Amino acid sequence: MTSPLQKMREEYKPPVPKILQNLLQVEFTKGEATHCLSDEEEIKPLFSKTFGQPMATGKKGDLRKPKPLRVGVVLSGGQAAGGHNVISGLFDALQTFSAESALIGFLGGPSGIVDNQAIEITAEVVAPYRNQGGFDLIGSGRTKIETDEQLAASLNTAKTLKLDGLVVIGGDDSNTNAAVLAEYFQKNGCDTTVVGVPKTIDGDLKNSHIATSFGFDTAAKVYSEMIGNIARDALSAKKYYHFIKLMGRSASHITLECALATHPNSAIIGEEVAAHALTLSQITDLLADLVIERAEKGMNYGVFLVPEGLVEFIPEMKELIKELNALAERSKEMNQEQIAEELTAEARHCFLALPEEIRKQLLLDRDPHGNVQVSMIETEKLLISSVKKELDRRSFRGKFSAQSHFFGYEGRAGFPSNFDAHYCYALGQTAALLIDEGLTAYMTVVGNLSSPVESWSIGGLPITSLLNMEVRKGKKKPVIQKALVDLEGKPFQFFAKHRKKWGLEDDYRFPGPIQFYGKPEVTDAISLTLDFEK
Ligand code: FBP
Repeated sequence: MTSPLQKMREEYKPPVPKILQNLLQVEFTKGEATHCLSDEEEIKPLFSKTFGQPMATGKKGDLRKPKPLRVGVVLSGGQAAGGHNVISGLFDALQTFSAESALIGFLGGPSGIVDNQAIEITAEVVAPYRNQGGFDLIGSGRTKIETDEQLAASLNTAKTLKLDGLVVIGGDDSNTNAAVLAEYFQKNGCDTTVVGVPKTIDGDLKNSHIATSFGFDTAAKVYSEMIGNIARDALSAKKYYHFIKLMGRSASHITLECALATHPNSAIIGEEVAAHALTLSQITDLLADLVIERAEKGMNYGVFLVPEGLVEFIPEMKELIKELNALAERSKEMNQEQIAEELTAEARHCFLALPEEIRKQLLLDRDPHGNVQVSMIETEKLLISSVKKELDRRSFRGKFSAQSHFFGYEGRAGFPSNFDAHYCYALGQTAALLIDEGLTAYMTVVGNLSSPVESWSIGGLPITSLLNMEVRKGKKKPVIQKALVDLEGKPFQFFAKHRKKWGLEDDYRFPGPIQFYGKPEVTDAISLTLDFEK
């Protein structure tokens, strides 16, 4: 049994940009050859077949003869609202090309390609997932395709299924993987083209062509609704400080967007912490100062936002994480004292000063791409205890009673906002066009997003143009550089200008739940970040 909203969303038809209204008339013009961000002498030889390809821009051309295509699709990494619309847009485009086209969905993420675990996605299969949240149609996973065996098995799958193209829907790591696969296929005489789609709630996969990754808009709106509710509760009861950790991995884009939407009393932005090399004790001081100032005004409550990636921006913690990463597998055999012995004096001091729980969380397994699992580190609790200690040290006589929250998974798989539903549908259709054009190692681009859907543009961005070399699991690897919060950018500047006022005078905003039907200024609103950056 579906809920009434589920049913209405199933039947909803996303509007499409003018350029996608006749798919058989779209062609691509090519720009100049591209370069990578840095380390070209190391990256170019690794991508001898696909390096330096030109940017492709979609435009209206002559009517083409339709041809059937066989395309595989995989969802990679964390859930982001709109993934099912990428698939439905892709499916509809392939059907427009020819009713003989086939869409194959790989199950459980990239491992589905390696193991050739797949289902055919037909009109009946996709129907109940249109405009719905989650990735449950085919599931997702974080397997990184990197060993010779995995690459050879993926090639075998592409050949066995006779794929013209493969669409990898993922974040920075998954799109890096798409470029690696594309290069491997080309080097081994396989014509399957590989195209990436920018997905991640974290908002850190963006550049001058990709204004935002899908899922960011929905996640930030879901969290902002919840933060607004907490702020209302704080205003009503006036008895708690709410420390809210927000998902978003390394970058603080989500925290910044939620701060712009809700005006909390404090929001820590990891990138600013790094820029000023703020230590944990300096961050604690700032929060304790605010608690004391508010107490002087008779306010013993408040709302503080904490980005989940904060620990990676605090210099001493960053250094500690680097040293723990270098210990890698060896640390599994050691207890905390033995681990401390292996660290430099500074890192050891930082490690031992942390509460035992946080130490344990820092030692948990890294994800397959070598990232610390920041969602498992209870930074909000770490800050509550350090602020409490600091207030005690300062003999604070007021009241400090804190509640901790983590808003993470609840923002990733909900019904996509109209923005994400429309954006994803257009991304899916554009991915089909890139494959039809025979472009490989390209990321799908839908641009002009702050204008009405009708005037959105489409294109393809060579993935190698986004690469630089970074150390992952102790080795230098080509990866897409994460886009962090720009401290000179308009969203941060607006926040910086107003935060003092928001800290001391409650000026909370209550965005409320995402609306799907009603006035367009409410239903189709873009994120404040996108609005500021337009
Ligand atoms: P992606 O980068 O794959 O989109 O994942 C984003 C994310 O939601 C992060 O914000 C979060 O830290 C992480 O996934 C959690 O991972 P997991 O789902 O494996 O617990």
